[in-house]
Amino acid sequence: MPLPMKINGLHHRTIWSDSNDPTHIQIIDQRHLPHHLVIEPLQTVAEAATAIRDMHVRGAGLIGATAGFGMYLAAIAPGNETVNERLKQGGELLCASRPTARNLAWAVERVLAETRDVSGEEDKKKMAFTVACAIADEDARFCRRLGEHGREIIRAISEKKDGAPVNVLTHCNAGWLAFVDWGSATAPIYAARDAGIAVHVWVDETRPWNQGAKLTAWELQQEGIECTLITDNTGGHLMQKGMVDLVIVGTDRTTRTGDVANKIGTYLKALAAHDNHVPFYVALPSSTFDWKLRDGMEIPIEERSGEEITQISGLTANGTIETVQLTAPGTRAANYSFDITPARLVSGLITERGICAANEEAISALFPDLA
Ligand code: MRU
Repeated sequence: MPLPMKINGLHHRTIWSDSNDPTHIQIIDQRHLPHHLVIEPLQTVAEAATAIRDMHVRGAGLIGATAGFGMYLAAIAPGNETVNERLKQGGELLCASRPTARNLAWAVERVLAETRDVSGEEDKKKMAFTVACAIADEDARFCRRLGEHGREIIRAISEKKDGAPVNVLTHCNAGWLAFVDWGSATAPIYAARDAGIAVHVWVDETRPWNQGAKLTAWELQQEGIECTLITDNTGGHLMQKGMVDLVIVGTDRTTRTGDVANKIGTYLKALAAHDNHVPFYVALPSSTFDWKLRDGMEIPIEERSGEEITQISGLTANGTIETVQLTAPGTRAANYSFDITPARLVSGLITERGICAANEEAISALFPDLA
């Protein structure tokens, strides 16, 4: 089996613990990509929360995995409190870091639940580590599986096109950088590539943070996948011209009825896809479902600093990354980070257990043990 995901040909995960010293948690600090590969150690739960809030790590699955390791760092922190008290405080700190991705609270709740009945302080710490590793490994495994299911959608389109490249449009980065390995929206693309199916990806730049331009285009290039960067407003035009066969996006939280929260602009892509009869799929591991919610409008939408819109950063000629002012000083900007795509616009959900319609009946039939 091939080993995604690679940087300069070497397999990497986005978060890992040092095999010689498991207390040593490391991440790729994504603020420096694609220009510099910077590895950052996380030594405390506060550092893990900062890494999530300030987007050193981002993407639903990776936020969840970082929260899992953050809980472990909380458990082993020095101090007079009990491990249970430290886990409770650590969980509150982590959950306050970003509001939209369900995976964050899901990971915190899982560590709390699986350590609760363990007796003995040292054993609780060991269990917190075991659970954090399990969350990360499961994320990678589930993404690989959903890639295999999604590959069959691409294969069917490829067969209809007599093997001509399948044009997939994606928004933001739901690639391996948004998870631990493989990614969600990109996993079917990598699986198709491994099956010898020709694929080309239209990459939305994804203003204002530019996850598409900085991360998705780079990770696809690292994997040798043909891709073209486009502005966020280009997708509708390409669909009208028959230049998009399929849209696959990720999600940060999906309700039990199939409403999807994803990076701002996703809803407009879904509308354009609907109008042009282009299939619109959402890929997610089950950790992204919010089983308590029925209405996407109840999902909390993060609002980030307007400076992410009024300023822009990039590589200078001397190799440093600098931020410059884009707008007139004092320009007011509203930075809503996510939007909701209603289930009626979603052709299907690609999960680790298979593909299902975006409705409560189909989702519950696939996940009877979780729903
Ligand atoms: O703000 P981000 O970068 O954490 O947003 C997450 C995303 O990259 C997207 O919304 C993505 O499509 C879903 S996360 C798998």
